[in-house]
Amino acid sequence: MLLELASDPEVTRWFSWGPYTELAEPEAYIARCALQREQGTQLDMLIVDHELGPAGIIGLSEFSYRDRRCMVGTWLGSSHWGTHVNRESKALVAHLGFELLDMNRIGAYSNPENVRSTKALEAVGYVHEGVLRDWHRHDGRFLDVNIFGMIRSDWALGDQASQQVKIEGEIPAAFLR
Ligand SMILES: CC(C)(COP(=O)(O)OP(=O)(O)OC[C@H]1O[C@@H](n2cnc3c(N)ncnc32)[C@H](O)[C@@H]1OP(=O)(O)O)[C@@H](O)C(=O)NCCC(=O)NCCS
Repeated sequence: MLLELASDPEVTRWFSWGPYTELAEPEAYIARCALQREQGTQLDMLIVDHELGPAGIIGLSEFSYRDRRCMVGTWLGSSHWGTHVNRESKALVAHLGFELLDMNRIGAYSNPENVRSTKALEAVGYVHEGVLRDWHRHDGRFLDVNIFGMIRSDWALGDQASQQVKIEGEIPAAFLR
């Protein structure tokens, strides 16, 4: 399913990876996820729509446990764009980050030309804080990125915290620091 969702060049257009062309690529990604979970460095999750099935990936990364912050990143198959999926998956992950992992800040990046992603972050309450110049190297070129942040106190007062969220299962031990 990941192969199908991310074989679309529109989906991975702004990423340093993809589009996927063969099964070995998502399989290698899934294997990396297991290692990152053990190490407490990246917590990626499959987004599954109750009716339509797997929709994409959302994850927390770049943890600073001392400063209680991390970053969120999301990609969705294009048939899920413009639906409830982005808003709801972001609400789930914000609950996970702020309530269960005791983070104080969740940040996000977008490419300044990726208007859709920028708008989608702002629509769920991420504040545009500025531009990090030459932050990211893509195909040998250094690119600027927008930096966004949501602070625990913004979240608590906003629409994301008011959404009903139910989290089941255990949090991998390496993230509980
Ligand atoms: C980024 C992503 C997760 C957002 O999810 P989404 O379902 O597309 O987002 P939404 O539809 O909720 O929000 C997009 C917003 O941008 C607006 N928009 C979309 N294209 C636009 C454009 N070209 N110009 C201006 N606004 C645009 C939409 O109208 C919407 O605004 P609204 O909520 O005010 O109506 C999804 O588009 C995606 O997976 N993209 C590919 C991967 C990616 O770029 N990930 C982000 C990396 S930083």
